[in-house]
Amino acid sequence: MSISRAFDMIFFGGTGDLAIRKLLPALYYRFRDTPDPAGWRIIGCARTELTRDGYVDLVSENCRRFIPGEDFDEGTWQRFTHHIEYLTIDALSGEGFDELAERLRHSQDRVRVFYLSTASSLYAPICEGLSRVSAVTGLSRVVLEKPLGHDLSSSDAINEAVGRIFEEHAIFRIDHYLGKETVQNLMALRFGNSIFEPLWNRSNVEQVQITLAEQVGVEGRGDYYEHSGALRDMVQSHLLQLLCILAMEPPTSIDPDAIRDEKLKVLKVLRPFTPESVRTDIVRGQYRSGAIEGKVAPGYLEEEGIAENSRNETFVAIKARLDNWRWSGVPFYLRTGKRMQERLSEIVVNFREVPHPLLPPPASGGGNRLIIQLQPDESVKLFVMAKIPGDEMKVRPVALDLDFDEAFKTRQWDAYERLLTDVIAGNLTLFMRRDELDAAWRWIDPIHSAWEAQDTAPKTYAAGTWGPTAASALLARDGMNWREEN
Ligand code: BG6
Repeated sequence: MSISRAFDMIFFGGTGDLAIRKLLPALYYRFRDTPDPAGWRIIGCARTELTRDGYVDLVSENCRRFIPGEDFDEGTWQRFTHHIEYLTIDALSGEGFDELAERLRHSQDRVRVFYLSTASSLYAPICEGLSRVSAVTGLSRVVLEKPLGHDLSSSDAINEAVGRIFEEHAIFRIDHYLGKETVQNLMALRFGNSIFEPLWNRSNVEQVQITLAEQVGVEGRGDYYEHSGALRDMVQSHLLQLLCILAMEPPTSIDPDAIRDEKLKVLKVLRPFTPESVRTDIVRGQYRSGAIEGKVAPGYLEEEGIAENSRNETFVAIKARLDNWRWSGVPFYLRTGKRMQERLSEIVVNFREVPHPLLPPPASGGGNRLIIQLQPDESVKLFVMAKIPGDEMKVRPVALDLDFDEAFKTRQWDAYERLLTDVIAGNLTLFMRRDELDAAWRWIDPIHSAWEAQDTAPKTYAAGTWGPTAASALLARDGMNWREEN
C-alpha cells in the first residue's frame, strides 16, 4: 500500500529530533516510491524564526544522516524538498495560527494531518488554536506522540481537551513499535498459522521475556527524559503494546476496534502492583559510566540536562502477571534500558520442557523457544532440539530461521513510513484507543507512587552491561535466566 491521496502534513515540533530523524526521512522514502506525489505538502511548524529556505537547509543538512547512503538520492531529495514549507508558530501565544489557516484555505478537499511531536502539555493549546482558526475539517486527523501526559489524570486532561476538537476516529495515538514489520509479523504468525494457537497458553508456555535494550543514552533529550524515565518512555507504551499483541485472544476480525478490544482486555488483566510487589517484582536502575564497544560512555548523571542527584530510572525489569484463563501462572518478564551491552529488541516465548526426558539435557538453552527479534535484525527463530552429529545421542537447540530479508528480498519499511501511510489512509488499526491508554496508565501509576513512597535510589549498573545484577536475581529466584545468560 502506498500513499495515494493528496495531503497536507503539518508537523508541530517541525525542527525537533523526531521530525529530523524519523518523520521527514520516512516521507522521503514514501515520496521516492510514489509514482505521482504531486498532491503532497509538508509544513514544518515550530517556534524558531526561520524562512522556508532556512528550514529546508536545516532539514537537508540533518535528515541525510538518517537515510543510508545507498538510499539517498540527491535529485529525489531536491524534488522532495519542493513540497516542504515552514511556518513559525507559537502554540502558547497563538501566534501563527491565522497564517496556517490561510495557507490551508485552498486545500479543504485534501486529507489534513496535524502531527503533534511537541511536549504533550502543548497538545491542548495546539488543538484549541487549530479550532479557533477553523483549520479542522472533516478530513483532518491529529497524531499524538507518546507519552501522553505523565499519569492517568494528566493524560485524561489531554484526551478530554483534544477530544473536544477531534472525534475519536480522527485521533491517532502513535506507538511506533506497532509499525515495525516484525510486530505485524507476530500477528501474522499467531493468526495466519494453525500450529501456534494450540501451544499459546499456560499449558505449554513456561515464561515469556520481552527485552527492549538500547546502547544509546539520553541523546541530548535530558530535559524530556528526566520527566519520563524508562517506565513512561518505554514500558507504558512500547513494552505494553508488544505484550498485548503477544498475549491477546484472536480478534474476531482485523478491524481496528476488534483488535483494540482484545488488546484492552490484556491491559485490564495485568495484575496491579502493590507497594510490596513493586519492591519484590520490579528492579529499577540507572547507568554509571562504562564502556560500550570499547568506547567510554558517560554515566547518566554526567549527561546534559540531568539533575545532580537525579533518581530517574534508565532501566526497568518487571515480573508481570496476566490474571486470565490463558496465562494464569505464566510470568512475563519485561525489561528495557539505555546504555546496555547491545541494541536488542526481542520477544522470547519459552515453552515447557518435555514431560518425561529420554535424552540427556543439552549443555545450555534447553526447551523449545520462539524468538521474535525486532532489532537489530528482524527475524523469527523457532528453536527445536536436534541431534548433534556423531555416535552419541546428544542434542542441542537448532534454529528454524525465518530471515525476512532472504525470504522477501525487499527493503523493509521503517515503522514511521507504515504509520504515516496509515494515518493518511485513515486506518486506526495500529494506533492506541483512549481506553487502552487509560488502562496502561492505571497499571503504571501505582509503580511510580510506590517508588516515591519508598524513597530509595535506583540500583546502579555500568554502561555496556545488561543492567543491575538485581535484574538477573529477579529471574534467578524463579529458577530462570534472561536469554543471554543461558
Ligand atoms: C522512543 C523513546 O519512543 O523509542 C526513545 O522515546 C527510544 O527513548 C526509542 O530511544 C527507541 O525506538 P527504536 O525504534 O530505536 O527502538
